[in-house]
Amino acid sequence: MINQDVYNELLEKYKAHFGKAPVVVSYAPGRIEVLGNHTDYNEGYVFSAAINYGTFFAISRNDDGVNRIVAGDLMHEVTFPLVDAKPVSKDTWANYVIGTVAGLNAIKPQDTGFDAMFLGNVPMGFGLSSSAALEMCTAKAVAQLFTIDADNVTLAKIGQAAERDYAGCPCGLLDQISSLCGAEGMLVKTDFRSLEIETVDMGPSVCFLMCNPHAKHALVDGQYASRRKACEDAAAYFASVLPHPVAALRDVTMAEWEAHKNGLDPIVANRAAHPIGEDERVLLGAELLNKGDLDGFGKLLFDSHESSRTMFENSCEELDNVVAVTKTIPGILGARLSGGGFGGSVVVLVKADAAADAAKAIAENYKANTGKDCEVSMIQPSIGASIVYTA
Ligand code: GLA
Repeated sequence: MINQDVYNELLEKYKAHFGKAPVVVSYAPGRIEVLGNHTDYNEGYVFSAAINYGTFFAISRNDDGVNRIVAGDLMHEVTFPLVDAKPVSKDTWANYVIGTVAGLNAIKPQDTGFDAMFLGNVPMGFGLSSSAALEMCTAKAVAQLFTIDADNVTLAKIGQAAERDYAGCPCGLLDQISSLCGAEGMLVKTDFRSLEIETVDMGPSVCFLMCNPHAKHALVDGQYASRRKACEDAAAYFASVLPHPVAALRDVTMAEWEAHKNGLDPIVANRAAHPIGEDERVLLGAELLNKGDLDGFGKLLFDSHESSRTMFENSCEELDNVVAVTKTIPGILGARLSGGGFGGSVVVLVKADAAADAAKAIAENYKANTGKDCEVSMIQPSIGASIVYTA
């Protein structure tokens, strides 16, 4: 089993804390975003992957009429009611669980309380969606224990609503879909309008690195929401000037953007160019992968970062410095920021046989250029969320 050591530790801690064994254990991984930045809520396309780090969630029923959730790393317990559970302002990690459980209860109310504990190894602060991993392992386990019938898209939407209503971030569906639908060695290509999901094999010749220069940025959620608003305003403008329906920026081409951008506030126009260009890059990237052109695919990652840096302005100096460093290292095919931006990490596409040397070189060159540390992790596209144990 993937991350067996984390699973074993969780079972031990669960038994010690609750004095019984769990009845269900689920697993859900974090994700990397490979191409297609801020396209999910613009109804566009994304290449992502579930990663080889994730979170396990162990659960059984209780007779106490309350839900108990323990963070296995802190060994700290939070209780919340079965009905009408509100977000908490202390121990805010619990909100991802409380919000997800509330979404499932709206489909079918729990008939008893539960005792649950989670433990994971998704590196924190890397922008690898540890919160989506927690939501999706919660969703899988609670749905299994209380026989709540919900498909992956429904579970993803429940996680998205938990982020919005319990954690305060108006995110799209990317993180949850990637965690649920990943597969060993595969990229996940998602159309966020039709929610059609396919897996694409990149073959064994390449893998990914995640580079975290520990960029600290304030106002992350406010920035995300303001970019989302600019995209929605731009979509409304294009709907008013184009001769065909525009429900979202997905319906606008770069050629149309070029022809009509002058009618928009210049900043809003730049914001809109990013997801529009990203959609075109994902579609081109799919063709290149089909032909086995990994060099061409990698170049699209560099183009994507450049668009983030100059048009969407969701990069920052640290991430730009990492990407600049990657351009000088042999075996690296492409690099870009991954996820929301304004900090977080850079995802690097690298030839598998050069990955270890490239990881070392990134950290060394970044230190030489900036005097600061950049943490580099190897990432393998891996299996998506599942139930790993039932009694
Ligand atoms: C965050 C959000 C996702 C998506 C990415 C940017 O990860 O949670 O929904 O919008 O940013 O592509």
